[in-house]
Amino acid sequence: MKQLNNILLLILIAMVTLACGSGDATAPTLDAPLALNATDITQNSFTAKWVGVANAKSYQIDVSTANNFSSFVDGFEAKSVSDVKLEVSSLDANTDYFYRVRAVNGETLSANSMTITTRTTIPEDVPLKEAAQSFFIGNVVQSNRMTGTHKEILNREYSSITAEYEMKMNIMYPYEGAYDWTRSDAIVDFAVTNNLNLHGHALIWHNSTPDWIENYTGTDAEFEAMLEDYVKTVVTRYKGKVKSWDVVNEAIEDGSGDYRNSVFYQRMGADYIAKCFKWAREADEDVLLFYNDYNLCDNGNKLTAVLNMIDGLTTGNVPINGLGFQMHISYNWPDRSDIEAAAQKVVDRKLKLHFSELDIRANPNNDLTSLSSARSLELKAKYKEIAEVYTAIPNDNKYALTIWGMKDNESWLLDFWGHIDWPLLYDSNFDEKDAYYGFLEGLMK
Ligand code: XIL
Repeated sequence: MKQLNNILLLILIAMVTLACGSGDATAPTLDAPLALNATDITQNSFTAKWVGVANAKSYQIDVSTANNFSSFVDGFEAKSVSDVKLEVSSLDANTDYFYRVRAVNGETLSANSMTITTRTTIPEDVPLKEAAQSFFIGNVVQSNRMTGTHKEILNREYSSITAEYEMKMNIMYPYEGAYDWTRSDAIVDFAVTNNLNLHGHALIWHNSTPDWIENYTGTDAEFEAMLEDYVKTVVTRYKGKVKSWDVVNEAIEDGSGDYRNSVFYQRMGADYIAKCFKWAREADEDVLLFYNDYNLCDNGNKLTAVLNMIDGLTTGNVPINGLGFQMHISYNWPDRSDIEAAAQKVVDRKLKLHFSELDIRANPNNDLTSLSSARSLELKAKYKEIAEVYTAIPNDNKYALTIWGMKDNESWLLDFWGHIDWPLLYDSNFDEKDAYYGFLEGLMK
């Protein structure tokens, strides 16, 4: 019996010792949790995770944009969590966040876990066309670049196409009375088959006028009749398939802001512009009609001249739906504020704005022989800026943001400027550049 008592006593002492741990039952030992890297990161949220510790009844998490936790994200200062993870949401995109966790048992708090850093970023597999809210993301096509990787990327990333050169007058109407639809038809069919919006470019452009029109031998009245037939024939042929046309491209001179002295101007005076818009409307009552030009965002007098011309058309009830800013720009030009101001002028006129030919020169001064990482990031920042500026205009004024070329070695700028550059979203191997991600980030903001 005495032996049994001794054994019971020993058991009792052992139990008390175990239960008390460090000797005080009201203050359990709480190790700091082991915080894990965030998962499920999006541009607006992430899931914070940690390994639970013995004796913890719950946890507290701090989330901050400062690594010293001098301030906290709203609602995330010592936020109580019973699980070992927490979704942190409603965050800013592309921002660094820091979090740390403590274990809690009654009044007792553990030390903080180590701090985890994470960044709200865009998942890389969101296509451009899905990132864009309420407008098309376009790129150009050539009839011999509509298969393989070109086709794959167009279908994955883009919702709209423009013919880079094969829906211009010199290709569709090379000889008097003899239209050639081979390539334009192929492009239109591609758009229809692949369910891509098709922007028609461009009915009238001084740089793609066939020789027979430049050297037209008939009278001015015959010239006008010929032009009416051309505009109506083309617009009618693609009615319902081409959703928008650049009716007139680059009619205003740089610098002076005068009407460009094209064969159209010489034959018909400035009125050719209004007439072409009217003919296009007569041929298709639904198609959107645009005037398109370059260098409209650098605060120069060209924009004023173009807007005066547009205001004249509107006052004269000429059917015009929008203005295309070509956007052949550089990584360091023009300034964001100038682009925003120019865009606002289009918005003020209740017209649609198409950023119609975006490419951004990374090497405008030809100071690089290969794209440096620093310049690549500057290019990325400019692409992001353009996407942000366009995304910020009212939805009613949006139409499309079209990039002028798929990959760097296909850019028209190489020939045009005669030196190396990397102005597009993909490198020559179809790999997405920093610029691609900047553009995507800008669309998602
Ligand atoms: C360019 C094309 O990219 C080239 O392939 C073609 O040889 C010439 O035209 N402004 C415009 C576009 O409106 O049509 C031009 O495209 C680039 C400048």
